[in-house]
Amino acid sequence: MSRRRRLEPFDLTVLRLAKGGVGEGIAPDGKPMHVRGAPPGSVVHVVPMGHKKGVWQGRRTAMVSPAPASAEPRCAVFGLCGGCQLQELQIEAQRRHKSGLALRQASGEAGLEGIAVHDTRGADAAYGYRNKVELSFGPQRYLSEAEHQAGVPIDGRFLGMHAPGRFDRVVDTSRCELVGEAPNGLLAIVREHALADDAPVPWSVRSHTGFWRHLGLRMSEADREVLVSLYTNAPDEHATRVVTALAEALVAAELPDGWRCAGVSWFVNTGVADVARGELQQCWGRGHITEALLGKRFRLSPQAFFQTSTAGAEILYRTIGDALGEARGTLLDLYCGTGSIGITLAEGFERVVGVELVPEAVEDARANAAANGVIAEFEVGKVEDALDILARTRGTRSLVVDPPRAGLHPKVAKALATAEADVLVYVACNPQSLGRDRAALEEGGWRLTDLWCVDLFPHTGHMEVVGRFVRHVS
Ligand SMILES: C[S@@+](CC[C@H](N)C(=O)[O-])C[C@H]1O[C@@H](n2cnc3c(N)ncnc32)[C@H](O)[C@@H]1O
Repeated sequence: MSRRRRLEPFDLTVLRLAKGGVGEGIAPDGKPMHVRGAPPGSVVHVVPMGHKKGVWQGRRTAMVSPAPASAEPRCAVFGLCGGCQLQELQIEAQRRHKSGLALRQASGEAGLEGIAVHDTRGADAAYGYRNKVELSFGPQRYLSEAEHQAGVPIDGRFLGMHAPGRFDRVVDTSRCELVGEAPNGLLAIVREHALADDAPVPWSVRSHTGFWRHLGLRMSEADREVLVSLYTNAPDEHATRVVTALAEALVAAELPDGWRCAGVSWFVNTGVADVARGELQQCWGRGHITEALLGKRFRLSPQAFFQTSTAGAEILYRTIGDALGEARGTLLDLYCGTGSIGITLAEGFERVVGVELVPEAVEDARANAAANGVIAEFEVGKVEDALDILARTRGTRSLVVDPPRAGLHPKVAKALATAEADVLVYVACNPQSLGRDRAALEEGGWRLTDLWCVDLFPHTGHMEVVGRFVRHVS
């Protein structure tokens, strides 16, 4: 980032959202400026931090005047934690601004002309919606400006989210407002045991020493159960005693509204990579939970991929169903993960065929299909290496693609462009990828006819987009 150009701190009027959920306004030199945590409609005091590809990056130092649709953030560490950026805006305004950005990105260079844009959808609950959260332990905390000035110590024992751009500092968090009361109750128990003065110390991502590494909480709304995962370095006898006492306290915890802890899985990770993974050391209670989506049940182990908002996923999958229209023949579910799209939408189709890279996800998909009585075949592999599936499923079929953020591999886009099918539904977690892949698909004769935005993650910059393509009839 270049610092050559100079710009004094100034008051920025935030006009709209830009990529990543940052606020965008115009700097005094006429160039756009991007600022984290700057809601559209507000005026914020900013310190220019540098300049990259014609765009200023700024740091918000004060809120000068809130947006007209402003809201009081519920979270005590809002602004410090990397999880949420938009808690200061009412949910309707968040969705309006996020879908404006997502639609610009998803329609690509061809723009929105001729496309039916449907009303933005999203679950009612703007807080407590996540069914999974992962927190990191650390020996150094991230402080606010005011805490810095007040001389609050940085070193200690902490548990929370990483601060944006600071892999080595943890925003110490005793509650996450994006999950419900039951997981927050279990978080309090973990903090009490794991951060105690006589407990082993947290892992340091700098020195690669210490014990506690990550905490995972995964919830089943359907069964009101929480699965706890503890990730640590290799234990000595003392650490084993502390983990055992913690796990027993978690399993026995009394939680509100009929919730309970289904089990605690302890994983040991001695590698240096900062990931919540490891070898299973011990399990108290069960090592899995079961969640329901649109009437189908899915068995979830701690690391299985699953949409992180259950109510949001139901809305997303209903939207994919709307985009598919009339069900007939084979439903081809590419990038299928644990098979949840194909399994929930299987009704009316003769069979479901899925392709997915991760072998464990495919195992889950097969088990989930069998448990739900769905006729399905799931294959392990990269979609780009499994394109013969298009020849093998020729005939009446509907296509769903739900690729990772990078979008379709060029070989996949090329093959799909000329693939015969009634309809192709593109599910985009990164709307820009849909905007780019649209061009390749339309070159092969598809036409993008409809777009839906689905807000799976209130308070963050993410917006999921569903695009319906049909064969062009001239
Ligand atoms: C956005 S997720 C979609 C998961 C699933 N459709 C769902 O709704 O739960 C993308 C999936 O693509 C898988 N994936 C990533 N690259 C892939 C590739 N080249 N070929 C096949 N699957 C891939 C990931 O493992 C992940 O499960």
